[in-house]
Amino acid sequence: MARFDGKVVLISGGARGQGAAEARMLVAEGARVVLGDVLVAEGEALARELGAAARFLRQDVTQQADWAACVAAAEAMGGLHGLVNNAGIYQPKPLMETSPELFQRHMQVNQFGCFLGMQAVVPAMRRAGGGAIVNISSVAGLRGSPNAIAYSATKWALRGMTKAAAADLAKHNIRVNSVHPGPIATPMLDVKTAEENQRRLENVPLRRQGSAEEVAKLVLFLLSEDASYMTGSELAIDGGAVL
Ligand SMILES: NC(=O)c1ccc[n+]([C@@H]2O[C@H](COP(=O)([O-])OP(=O)(O)OC[C@H]3O[C@@H](n4cnc5c(N)ncnc54)[C@H](O)[C@@H]3O)[C@@H](O)[C@H]2O)c1
Repeated sequence: MARFDGKVVLISGGARGQGAAEARMLVAEGARVVLGDVLVAEGEALARELGAAARFLRQDVTQQADWAACVAAAEAMGGLHGLVNNAGIYQPKPLMETSPELFQRHMQVNQFGCFLGMQAVVPAMRRAGGGAIVNISSVAGLRGSPNAIAYSATKWALRGMTKAAAADLAKHNIRVNSVHPGPIATPMLDVKTAEENQRRLENVPLRRQGSAEEVAKLVLFLLSEDASYMTGSELAIDGGAVL
């Protein structure tokens, strides 16, 4: 029996990058997945690739109604057992170049979206007898990331929100953990030049970017029963990054 037989997992920002890698791996291990994203063409293409085990919904994580629709879709597929709060934006700017609008936008998507997501899934997870939530933070939520004050603010927030939610939800048999990736080769890093991305690796002892699949393996571990005694934890997956 595969690890995720009979389980349904909702992945926000699931159309590409790490979310898509998690979807492919979960389906290969027996799960059904609901993919939410604002990228409709990519999301629909991935759902087609995965077949009956996947459903894509256009979802803006800042909208409560979109979360409700995703939860309903998951329950229609057989319950809701896992959530990966993965959607995020990264528009790095130093403190003095960060407009209030840019700061607010990061807060809306990365932080408020995660709050709405955790709140939205709890009743369905309780109906399923429990569940697991993985919040995708960043190394920027463990250290001070240069030139990314708004992004860092939200990723530090996810770390705290994870621990608070873990304490609140343990009584419902819902575990909540955070994952802190370093530089991962996904379209998110296209905002920087190849030279900038290369220079960043000087602070990564393993001297390379991680892959979406490497992060997905960790996320699946936290979603699975293998992590049954883990909640409120923060796990770095960053090649040993020192900055
Ligand atoms: N790539 C990295 O180096 C890196 C490092 C640390 C943390 N992370 C985090 O990992 C997560 C996944 O990022 P990724 O690397 O796969 O990048 P990505 O840009 O490929 O994926 C992010 C996804 O989130 C979606 N998204 C953005 N705004 C949304 C919204 N309002 N509603 C719904 N979906 C929305 C995007 O459309 C995209 O599909 C993000 O939370 C990111 O902050 C990435």
